[in-house]
Amino acid sequence: MTATIGEARRDELAGRLAGAVLATLDLQAVYVGDRLGLYRALEDGGPATAPELAARSGIHPRYAREWLEHQAVGAILDVDDVQAAPDERRYTLPAAHAMVLTDPESPWLLAPLSRFVVGTAATMPRLLDAYRTGEGVDWADYGADVVEAQEGINRPQFHHLMGEWIGALPDIAEKLRSGKGRVADVACGTGWSSISIARHFPEVAVDGIDIDAGSIARAKAHAADAGLDGRVSFLFADAASADGEGRYDLVTIFEALHDMARPAEVLAIGRRRVGLGPADGLGVGADDGRAHEEAGEVLADGERVVGVREVRVVRDLLIADVRDQLDRRANLERGVQVEVAAVLAVGEPEQVGDAVRILQRRGP
Ligand SMILES: C[S@@+](CC[C@H](N)C(=O)[O-])C[C@H]1O[C@@H](n2cnc3c(N)ncnc32)[C@H](O)[C@@H]1O
Repeated sequence: MTATIGEARRDELAGRLAGAVLATLDLQAVYVGDRLGLYRALEDGGPATAPELAARSGIHPRYAREWLEHQAVGAILDVDDVQAAPDERRYTLPAAHAMVLTDPESPWLLAPLSRFVVGTAATMPRLLDAYRTGEGVDWADYGADVVEAQEGINRPQFHHLMGEWIGALPDIAEKLRSGKGRVADVACGTGWSSISIARHFPEVAVDGIDIDAGSIARAKAHAADAGLDGRVSFLFADAASADGEGRYDLVTIFEALHDMARPAEVLAIGRRRVGLGPADGLGVGADDGRAHEEAGEVLADGERVVGVREVRVVRDLLIADVRDQLDRRANLERGVQVEVAAVLAVGEPEQVGDAVRILQRRGP
């Protein structure tokens, strides 16, 4: 009996890992198509044979053929006639798949995640060192693939949901609409959240702040391309030490608090940026249903409950508590991963409650 249970578990794990290997290889081929612009060439130029795709995208015809065949076998591309000679078969990117692979503002866009797989694999030597030494790996050390994966996967959410998120804070939204507002977008990465805020509120000024110089350079280029470089500024700085006290109407942090070495300091300064004391409102939204549940259990603390699952806003949330709750090492030791999607530090806690409930839609 024990042997049978052992065999079943063995087979289950072996099957799972074999499937994961195939899925990873699949993603690597998606990475090739994404990075070399092959999906884009099929989208822009329409169906193509291998020699046509090679000519359009500047790759070698032999590799164009290999990649197209792989993609057709994997049902990512359609092929018109499998009986035709290899270089005469014509391949099509279905419109439904273009929404997943090429449209930068599609809510279904997933191709950039293949860059996470490739980029994090390239970082493994540093990660192994970190395991040995106990040191960390800087965000910048993950390289362009990981930064651009992050950018690619979050940009559609900012594009589609930013107006709704901030719109749920009526006073703040009104002020931003009136043209008097100023927003600090802390840990802005490559700037798409800052750009989205500026697009939704055409008079507002946005200062994006990030500790990664490469991301800030990219953010500046994005703002210039969007024609927003007069109204959206980017600052290369540590948000735990930058100034700007009392200067802002709204401070946002999107999907970054959990990446920070000193989240409590960043939150404390975030409050001061909007002129709040430690007893004022702060909205915290978590982005993973299971994490909410686990975090909710661990974080419940008498009168000072941070209902991460329900994403309530608390007036008396103390920065010291946040420090405990967001200490990644302590949480990992407890077996809990707290992923915070967004934090909005604003003046009216009751309104923030609505905003963070909306932020919760990111969860399953
Ligand atoms: C996962 S990325 C999120 C970027 C962006 N908010 C988004 O959603 O696409 C986390 C970002 O936090 C930034 N970051 C971490 N610690 C920071 C700090 N102390 N000050 C400013 N930025 C910081 C990193 O450089 C990185 O760009």
